Amino acid sequence: MEVVESGYSLGARVEGLDLSRPLPPATFRAVEQLLGRHGVLSFPRQTLTPAQLKAYAQQFGTLEVNVANNYQEPGLPEVMILSNKLQDGKPIGLADAGQDWHTDMSYSNMIAFANILYGIEIPFRDGEPLGCTEFCNMHAAYDELPDSLKARLDGMTVLHDFNKFWERMRQEKGSTRPPLTEAQRRAKPPVSHPVFLTHPITGRKVLYANPGYSVRINELPPDESERTLEFLFRHQLQEKFRYRHRWSVGDVLMWDNMGTIHNAVADYAPHEHRLIKRCQVMADRYFGRAAP
Ligand code: OGA
Ligand code: MN
Repeated sequence: MEVVESGYSLGARVEGLDLSRPLPPATFRAVEQLLGRHGVLSFPRQTLTPAQLKAYAQQFGTLEVNVANNYQEPGLPEVMILSNKLQDGKPIGLADAGQDWHTDMSYSNMIAFANILYGIEIPFRDGEPLGCTEFCNMHAAYDELPDSLKARLDGMTVLHDFNKFWERMRQEKGSTRPPLTEAQRRAKPPVSHPVFLTHPITGRKVLYANPGYSVRINELPPDESERTLEFLFRHQLQEKFRYRHRWSVGDVLMWDNMGTIHNAVADYAPHEHRLIKRCQVMADRYFGRAAP
């Protein structure tokens, strides 16, 4: 295994591993440590069946089955299809996953540990890949907060609401998603998590808030909560914390949802096809059944 750091605030490429077979325990532990340290790992030139993608992912924790029960690999509901392709006029996958800054599952009691995406078709224009996935480093974002704000927010919690991102997609991005029904909203009530999480791999603090789902700092008056969240969102999105993964066909991209936030860049047209298969790993190996 050879590790090539991106040279940015996060991101590394791991060469020499075949993810289609179970990792030996020492290799597994090394990959876990690398993920904590670099936040985003890419494994180029992989060849995986959907079942092998699932088998690789589930070494890291329990896999989430998306509540929408749609765009799943036949017989493998843990493997979800992200794509803008149509078959007989119908979408074969979720076409607008993650197209703004967010953290997967921060709105859930059991938060997400890792996402693992396998790139099968990647759009290119003039030799450049489209549909990059961007990340920001939440270890660095925490470290660089003003000391006074670290002290002020220490021990406080943030409310995360699934509906925030959903409505933003509908209203600002012109998506065809219908509004959530009352039943769907009741099934996903807002949940709270510490604003600063101690990262289970690195043992360091991370800023655990994101523009997609965070709506409120519970312990602050509403106006201070609003101002503080706006500050945190601007702070965490600074260029110096960023890394952009440029996809190649055959990449497995794995990221840590506690130590990073991410954004899917929607810069490709309907005829420029993207097909990715994805597993989402919950953080239950670290937190047991309880929320963090
Ligand atoms: C996700 C997501 C990013 C992408 O799968 O959680 O946000 O580039 N996708 O597809
Ligand atoms: Mn996402």
